[in-house]
Amino acid sequence: MATPNPYPLLVEVDQYIERLFVPRDAVLEESLKAAIVAGLPEIHVSPNEGKLLYLLAKLSGAKRVLEIGLLGGYSTIWLARAIAPKGHLVSLELDENYVRVAGKNLEIAGLRSMVDIRQGAAAATLEKMVKAGEAPFDLVFIDADKDGYPVYLDYALKLTKPGSLILADNVIRRIADTMVNHEKPKPGAPDPLLGGIEEFNRKLAGNPKLESIVVTVTREFVDGLAIARVKD
Ligand code: SAH
Ligand code: DHB
Ligand code: MG
Repeated sequence: MATPNPYPLLVEVDQYIERLFVPRDAVLEESLKAAIVAGLPEIHVSPNEGKLLYLLAKLSGAKRVLEIGLLGGYSTIWLARAIAPKGHLVSLELDENYVRVAGKNLEIAGLRSMVDIRQGAAAATLEKMVKAGEAPFDLVFIDADKDGYPVYLDYALKLTKPGSLILADNVIRRIADTMVNHEKPKPGAPDPLLGGIEEFNRKLAGNPKLESIVVTVTREFVDGLAIARVKD
């Protein structure tokens, strides 16, 4: 279990923002309920982060979006709505059951025809996409296994073009946990939420082809969304 947010104020502020800026939405709420009923873990982005993803997609004028980590399709609905009706979204997911649940949720949201779901290990799918000369994406959202993040960044760089955005969820969570606990992550000890996150953040910050920042995102815990733009 992650350390609960030790700053209740941040949770209240997050809830205040949600009440004002993220109106309740039956389609999104039903998609989360269907995911719970089907036994999926509740690890989707928060409503406020979904709205932020939606706005980033709109602000950047994205038309082609790549998502790595579909789960029940919650973030997918936010991103697909931002690029509707003409955009196209490709979402990668390992778990066959999640693919089924997300497919149904997208159907109910009226977005199924915009979304191309590719089942399998993301690294293998991404390799195939590069080899097949897949057209570049305007926005890549990385949100799958944290071990894979550094490799997903390499593929994201190959599958984008100048001006594209590369976003990544969960880039602060475990790092914030260790700050609260005043202990450093243990090298060698497996920690699925840390995974390759520190390496990913270093690679993102140090890549001369990118201009990047991390914005903190809070809910029951402190986390962060990485935002990078491929330079012109
Ligand atoms: N973006 C979703 C949440 C994704 S959770 C949302 O906010 O709604 C992370 C997802 O990555 C899970 O569904 C998990 O099954 C998937 N995943 C984990 N390892 C993977 C891999 N190697 N390849 C593809 N998907 C993977
Ligand atoms: C986990 C994964 C996520 O992508 C997330 O946003 C929160 C939690 C997890 O694996 O626990
Ligand atoms: Mg996530």
